[in-house]
Amino acid sequence: MTTLIVYESLYGNTAEIAEAIAAGVRNSGQQVQTVGTDTAPTEIPGEVTLLVVGGPTHAFSMSREQTRSDAADHGAAVVNTGLREWIDRVSPRADLPVITFDTRVKVPLLPGSAAKAADKVLHRRGFEHAARGESFWVADTDGPLKPGEIERATHWGEGLISLVERDA
Ligand SMILES: Cc1cc2nc3c(=O)[nH]c(=O)nc-3n(C[C@H](O)[C@H](O)[C@H](O)COP(=O)(O)O)c2cc1C
Repeated sequence: MTTLIVYESLYGNTAEIAEAIAAGVRNSGQQVQTVGTDTAPTEIPGEVTLLVVGGPTHAFSMSREQTRSDAADHGAAVVNTGLREWIDRVSPRADLPVITFDTRVKVPLLPGSAAKAADKVLHRRGFEHAARGESFWVADTDGPLKPGEIERATHWGEGLISLVERDA
């Protein structure tokens, strides 16, 4: 069993969550690799049995070139291939379990989730076993993560294996 975690992160918060999820997957005895969307492969290696994808919520959805450029103007890292673009380019594997996650700001009545949008587009692209996963909370646009979110992500990572086994 090998899990591949593909993430987008402009201010580092989603990257921290990706690493925390990876630690949880490792705790459950599975192999895991994390990679940013800028360098993630568009052919998923054959040994990957679970794909986890995540990114920041921008304008109620996954980021776009314009939202990333706005963020870069405010000190964020430059990301050329966002999660949306990576999902558009990756070769679909219909039978591969995929689970999404995102980071977002917890504001009452603020709708929209990159995890939800990613799930929808993955299905459209032919990933028939994609599912929406968790949202993790940041205190503000550039972070930090809300207290307890790293631990929650690790715990969630520990449980991912059971989701795959349940679907098998
Ligand atoms: C241009 C832009 C638009 C955003 N729009 C939303 C939004 O609609 N909803 C939300 O919860 N957070 C929004 N945010 C906050 C991001 O979710 C937050 O920056 C992100 O979770 C941080 O992750 P990162 O450090 O990995 O980039 C936005 C941030 C930026 C830069």
